[in-house]
Amino acid sequence: MSFEFVQSFPYDPISSLLRKFAYGLVTTCVLGTAVYIGYRVAAPDKSYIKRYRYPELNDQIEKVIASLKINDEQLKHIMRTLEEEMNTGLSPTTHKQSSVKMFPSYVRHIPDGTEVGQVLALDLGGTNFRILSIKLRGNSKIDLTSKIFVVPQSVMIGDGRHLFRHLVECLSDFMKKEALLHTGICYPLGFTFSFPCKQESLSSARLTAWTKGFSCSGVVNEDVVKLLQDAINEKGINVKCAALVNDTVGTLMACAYREPSTAIGLILGTGTNACYIENLDNVGTWNGDYNEPKQVIINMEWGAFGDNGCLNHIRTKYDEEVDLSSINPGKQTFEKMISGMYMGEIVRLIILDLLQQELLFLGHRDTYGDYKTPLYNRGGFYTKFVSTVETDEGIKFSNTRRVLEDIGIRNPTFDDCVIVQHICRQVSTRAARLAGAGLAVLINRMKKSNITIGVDGSLYRYHPRFKRNMERCMENLVHKDLKFKWALSDDGSGKGAALVACVAEQNSSGIFVQNHKEVPDYKKSE
Ligand code: GLC
Repeated sequence: MSFEFVQSFPYDPISSLLRKFAYGLVTTCVLGTAVYIGYRVAAPDKSYIKRYRYPELNDQIEKVIASLKINDEQLKHIMRTLEEEMNTGLSPTTHKQSSVKMFPSYVRHIPDGTEVGQVLALDLGGTNFRILSIKLRGNSKIDLTSKIFVVPQSVMIGDGRHLFRHLVECLSDFMKKEALLHTGICYPLGFTFSFPCKQESLSSARLTAWTKGFSCSGVVNEDVVKLLQDAINEKGINVKCAALVNDTVGTLMACAYREPSTAIGLILGTGTNACYIENLDNVGTWNGDYNEPKQVIINMEWGAFGDNGCLNHIRTKYDEEVDLSSINPGKQTFEKMISGMYMGEIVRLIILDLLQQELLFLGHRDTYGDYKTPLYNRGGFYTKFVSTVETDEGIKFSNTRRVLEDIGIRNPTFDDCVIVQHICRQVSTRAARLAGAGLAVLINRMKKSNITIGVDGSLYRYHPRFKRNMERCMENLVHKDLKFKWALSDDGSGKGAALVACVAEQNSSGIFVQNHKEVPDYKKSE
């Protein structure tokens, strides 16, 4: 019966086709799912590529990056605060409250190229220091020889007397090689000392605090010129320290020698600082005479801008971390957001944060538990890496890959490279915009229609976009009728210090008498 029943159904080609189709569909789904699961297991990070290819589209990364952005309105606010701090620093009644100390340098004029003499210079500001011998031949002709020496780390943080003895040992060696010892001549020396000093005259300056990794004992509050001269006398060499200048002042002087419109000296290197020519009428703290020219170069010490909390609104958690782990917590707030000593460290902290939030180096994270790699160690990401990463253009990222390998990350993905470059750009752009805003304050304040900014420092020299980024932001911040140009200091600030020392020796008052604007345009001759 049943047989008949079954047999009663004739062959149906349509149902057979449907059945085959259903089998095919199920098989395809099963195989597809298997392939997908296999793919996810084998390459988990690939699924993120689309999301990361343009990191600015990724909310979490963008949140981190956004904390580093400072728009033009914020910059203008920072400029107003800086100018208030400057005025507070220049007034004797409020000077103490200001984070920007505005120290008068006692340099009131520029050499005019007619100076003649043999001068020495000692340039100390970081782990290297330089000794220069400069022969001024008149008519702007200069013969210059110099040698670089190292300050060992143990000396940087040791007893102050050892530091000065070390400087003088090197000076003596240098003079011996140059046949300047025991010549019967006592050579004037210009001392470029790139740390904050309250000057009492051209040849007397008290260190107010160490910066940039130095912390020698027994030097703060002491007269640094005296400490150097004592070490010179102890060694018995024929040198007299005639002037101390900050590196910003040395840079301004060195550039002004070639380009008389120079009115600002700027350092963008291990540290950052600026000096500029101020009217004596605005310098309430001035205790010298009021002869012409009624102006003095002010060493701003702008690296300390914000130490009283006035920049807290723009600081990120990374800035706070950099500060807390530094040798001088709570000090040099502006410098720590700008200069070469800290830039790489900010980038490192951001990379680590993104890695810990699982936004970077995905699929590799388990292998990065190696805490010995530079990525996990303070100072492991050098500021020169920031420059290297930013030189990559296009999609190969060969420099970025090399840098990442150096800090312990093997085989970074394309997206890792994009993100790391994005971080470097944001950190260096922020630094450039802050420095640009500071310069804009000075240019607007001096109101000279065409000025030159004398500049030196590794960040300015070697970072591929720092100068351009400063200029871009300054376009919106400098008054339209005021023009400026840059002059890179070629022999560093030591040459400027030597020039100051030479004139100080020739002019017993130690003060130049010519007006800044009237200095003729001398040609560089060495
Ligand atoms: C630090 C010093 C300052 C110097 C600057 C650049 O900020 O305090 O005196 O000019 O570094 O070297």
